[in-house]
Amino acid sequence: MRSSTPKVAVFASGSGSNFEAMLEKDDLTRHIGALICDKPGAPVIQRAQEYHIPVCLLSPGDFGSKAAYEREVLSYLQEKDITWIVLAGYMRLIGPTLLEAFRGKIVNIHPSLLPAFPGLDATGQALRADVSETGVTVHYVDPGMDTGPIITQQKVPILPNDTKETLQMRLQKVEHTLYPDTIETLIKQ
Ligand code: GRF
Repeated sequence: MRSSTPKVAVFASGSGSNFEAMLEKDDLTRHIGALICDKPGAPVIQRAQEYHIPVCLLSPGDFGSKAAYEREVLSYLQEKDITWIVLAGYMRLIGPTLLEAFRGKIVNIHPSLLPAFPGLDATGQALRADVSETGVTVHYVDPGMDTGPIITQQKVPILPNDTKETLQMRLQKVEHTLYPDTIETLIKQ
């Protein structure tokens, strides 16, 4: 039987600072039911272990197709009674298998004011474009790259002496509040 507590699976491929920010948020942490990781050795795995979050580590290359990989992920999510998918630095596009099973229940965070600067290296793109501000976007996931309907955005100024590192730090500070707050609101609706 499905439990009444909404359960979130976080998908991540790298560091996992956003994942940890969710685990540090009192009213959200009890809703985090699993980490799905596609990269053996990614630091996010250790963060999950420290917080006793179950980890599903699968290498897509071990499967014959993206659909076969996603079917395996889907059966894990069903076993854990997951109702929301939250992408946090997950470096692949979500395919039809998961999009159909979690219609309207997959969200992503991107470090730009979408639709500006989608895809890789959004911070570098913003610096090269010589704009005075960028920001953070939380959006629903569709088949495209950072193209789904926008849920919320927050602007972040670009300062004259910013490097990629200083700007990234300022963006992540915003992410670590905006993402947990937005997810908490969404899953409780
Ligand atoms: C974040 O900047 C997020 O916007 C992007 O990937 C990065 C993940 O960082 N989608 P972390 O692994 O949560 O530290």
